[in-house]
Amino acid sequence: MNHFLDINKTDPAALRAMIDAGHAMKAARNGRPKGLPDDDQPLAGRMVALIFEKPSTRTRVSFDVGVRQMGGQTMVLSGADMQLGHGETIADTARVMSRYVDLIMIRTFEEATLLEMAEHATVPVINGLTNRSHPCQIMADIMTYEEHRGPIRGRKVVWSGDGNNVFASFAHASGQFGFDLTFTGPEPLDPEQIFLDEAHAKGATVRIERDPFRAVEGADLVVTDTWVSMHDPQSARERRHNQLRPYQVNETLMARAKPDALFMHCLPAHRDDEATSAVMDGPHSVIWDEAENRLHAQKAVVRWCLGV
Ligand code: CP
Repeated sequence: MNHFLDINKTDPAALRAMIDAGHAMKAARNGRPKGLPDDDQPLAGRMVALIFEKPSTRTRVSFDVGVRQMGGQTMVLSGADMQLGHGETIADTARVMSRYVDLIMIRTFEEATLLEMAEHATVPVINGLTNRSHPCQIMADIMTYEEHRGPIRGRKVVWSGDGNNVFASFAHASGQFGFDLTFTGPEPLDPEQIFLDEAHAKGATVRIERDPFRAVEGADLVVTDTWVSMHDPQSARERRHNQLRPYQVNETLMARAKPDALFMHCLPAHRDDEATSAVMDGPHSVIWDEAENRLHAQKAVVRWCLGV
């Protein structure tokens, strides 16, 4: 049984096959209306549960649409409305859900919840984001980079901002896909050292450069994310804004990257905080393709999990 829990826990050949399948499935749809099914229906007769303990637009809609395009059915569940939110254990929830559905995608707070769900489920479990990682997002980001610029292997990716869960999945991916990764941000918001150590152990170059302008020199891809994540206390908002303001991705910063550098943001964005509208809507930006590719990349992840 294939769980998709994190990029560093998934075989690199499987990751590559999923990215390639995402490209192929996107091409096969060839711009047809979103509600029309794919030509092949690998999920016919399958039921997928999408559990959300945190808000979501992209993850919720892209999984729901993707499963339906492949012939499957979905149920979208709020953790708060389940017994899960009222004291039933994760393990018991996993055992029960496995009797009803063929696959579980869960967005939750603690990584431990995801891991417990996977341990006790008898169907595949997909990580739709935890406080610690967001692997589906980075699968879409790799697909988007390669759609525009070819193989990401050997490229320079620069993350400017908070060393959060999305950065962590980029660090996981740097080791698995073989690209160089630079983190630039204030020291109190550095990523956990383990993410860098794991990437180094897999032969990737991951470094911290405190000066954002030096960091983006020669970058092929510049990435940022919201300054206050869903699990951060709102009381930290002002402090984080002050710490992160020098790391805003604006036209001056992008001008130091390679002329053909791409800009990505997983969204939702706080325009003119972590990135200016001029960059988000400018010539380097591929954020809408990035959002669309959640759909195609995740369809490939779902097929891999189910072996169909
Ligand atoms: N990027 C992302 O995961 O978006 P949502 O929070 O809207 O799902």
